[in-house]
Amino acid sequence: MPLLRSCVQLFLLHSYKDVAPAEHIFVRRADRGTNQMQNLLQMCCGTILTPNNTQQHHRSFMITSIKHALSASAETDIEIAGWIRSRRDAKGFSFLEVNDGSCLRNLQVIVDQEVPGYEQVLHATTGSSVRVAGRLLASPAAGQKWELRATDVEIIGQADAAYPLQKKGHSVEFLRTIAHLRPRSNLFGAVFRLRSRLAYAVHQFFQERDFVYVQTPIITASDCEGAGELFRVTTLKQGGDKAEDPDFFGKATYLTVSGQLEAETFACALSKVYTFGPTFRAENSNTSRHAAEFWMIEPEMAFCDLQGDMDLAEEFVKAMVRHALAHCADELGLFTKFVDKGLTERLALVAERPFHRLPYADAISILKSSGRSFEFPVIDGQSLQSEHERFLTEEHFGVPVTLFDQPSQAKPFYMRVNDDGKTVAAMDVLVPGIGEIIGGSQREERLNVLQENMRSRGLSEEEYWWYLDLRRFGTVPHAGFGLGFERLLMFVTGVSNIRDVIPFARTPGNAEF
Ligand code: 4AD
Ligand code: MG
Repeated sequence: MPLLRSCVQLFLLHSYKDVAPAEHIFVRRADRGTNQMQNLLQMCCGTILTPNNTQQHHRSFMITSIKHALSASAETDIEIAGWIRSRRDAKGFSFLEVNDGSCLRNLQVIVDQEVPGYEQVLHATTGSSVRVAGRLLASPAAGQKWELRATDVEIIGQADAAYPLQKKGHSVEFLRTIAHLRPRSNLFGAVFRLRSRLAYAVHQFFQERDFVYVQTPIITASDCEGAGELFRVTTLKQGGDKAEDPDFFGKATYLTVSGQLEAETFACALSKVYTFGPTFRAENSNTSRHAAEFWMIEPEMAFCDLQGDMDLAEEFVKAMVRHALAHCADELGLFTKFVDKGLTERLALVAERPFHRLPYADAISILKSSGRSFEFPVIDGQSLQSEHERFLTEEHFGVPVTLFDQPSQAKPFYMRVNDDGKTVAAMDVLVPGIGEIIGGSQREERLNVLQENMRSRGLSEEEYWWYLDLRRFGTVPHAGFGLGFERLLMFVTGVSNIRDVIPFARTPGNAEF
């Protein structure tokens, strides 16, 4: 019996996860009367589904999202729940603007004084949570197709007078100080809906191309990028433990700066793989495009060279932009209106026009003869600064630029050395407004050259024994790249600070929330 019960329970929960709004209504009606469906639901799911108990408003599967309500095709009875954005009282009735975060738009609710719960409505403040049952009717008001005529209202939780998100606009700097409440603002609701949508698009893009999703470890012993920007992971207490006490893993460990090395091992077995996970860098740069914790997408392909890598990078960025244009029109409309007037136009261009492929040596010539006085000098052999990258992509070419064949001294040990012995098969994708959004390369697949790269950088072969094994046992040309998810979001939303596209930013001196 318990087994049967949990099977039916699972089945029902699954069924209700995907039901359309019309079917929600069926459940709500079933819930009012006593019929077989109700009994079955009660038997299977216990108190959560019991009508008229205090948990009634937690039954979110019965609630129609405002997004669905606003796209209804006919009048219907529904139940919605959300937070009050504003209240306006008229003689004998009140208007509520309710938002549940499912979309940018609010649903206007009209509550007549006869409706049960009206007394509570008269005291409801901005930010209070509310549940409303009623009839969705065509709205006579301009700019909205539907409004909800309430038949039953419940104020679930009042917001007291200190609620900081009042109707007037707030600066992003202020909203950062209330990161726990900012998703309730129009701007941040839109940013995080778009973030979710693009995370889905990332998986869709790679899955449709037969890439296998690999979850690489967060705790690692290697510094993939060799930049020494590692957060140490240890159970040793400062001063408390004796030096000879072993640390938890028996060796020094860190939060990963990249899943690439582990992804390479999987590419050398499953051919095409990708990772999508959190990444950590203790670089003390307080810029608008660096975070100590960010998410990175890292595809890795066996039997692939730098050309194939650059092709995939371009296709990927374009696919993400197209996905946003096709599925996040309301959000992009908001960003274009309030954040960056040229956004939609720029995204449409990026989706269509080819990226410019630029060898590093040519980039240096262009920058040197540009006549521009940059803050940092342009030095052949060194990495470009963000101002140089932005000049190339924003002003000189006016399209995203794929920079390639950078000098080996500016790049990590794993990149494939070119025939000139001085440059490596590296590439960076630079986009307007941001600069570098992608960094990648063809990997050094020749054992002896890789060993030499490691020696010249003082890396220990013993520590990387497993990485070197890939070159010993059936080595193949392979390539990949890393795209910073937050930088992609900055590019697609026009939002200029990385702190505003990640739910809770981790930057030097800041780990609040
Ligand atoms: O260029 P990076 O350092 O490349 C790698 O980590 C390679 N292992 C990737 C690979 O080939 N599989 O980082 C890749 C991208 C950058 O282009 C940038 O978009 C983002 O990661 N990134 C950061 N984003 C936010 N904050 C930071 N501190 C970042 N550092 C890098
Ligand atoms: Mg880079």
